Amino acid sequence: MKILVLNGPNLNLLGSREPAQYGHATLADVQHLCERTATELGHEVECFQSNHEGELIDKLHEYGRLFRDGLALGVVFNPGAFTHTSVALHDAIKGTGLPVVEIHISNVHAREAFRHHSYVSPVAKGVVLGFGIQGYALALHGLVGDMS
Ligand code: DQA
Repeated sequence: MKILVLNGPNLNLLGSREPAQYGHATLADVQHLCERTATELGHEVECFQSNHEGELIDKLHEYGRLFRDGLALGVVFNPGAFTHTSVALHDAIKGTGLPVVEIHISNVHAREAFRHHSYVSPVAKGVVLGFGIQGYALALHGLVGDMS
């Protein structure tokens, strides 16, 4: 089954962006980790990143259709700063019925107050945060339902 690993704004800058907050691994490293983990779990990932809210919504709609047709399992989603602002992403997840695991590299609750609220969490199957890029592997295990 297909799993979408979806990354939002500025995550293309991983590796050079605020390394004290997000570490030194790049988005390509995240992709390799997700491909390896999905293979171990017997699934297949597509990795997609966009800085544009509408493109993230279009991708969720595409996977909503695949999910309905029994061809996709769900989404591991780091919405970046849109987490804290986007009613449209909330509605897209709700409207598609997609199982989504929200992931944040940093522990957003240990940071500025404006990062403490998520529009995505109420419509997510689960949330992983604060474990660096390893969180993507944890989120994949959570989505697949294999917590070993
Ligand atoms: C982030 C946390 C967000 O608050 C921030 O805007 C990001 C990255 C994380 O992975 O820790 O872009 O989603």
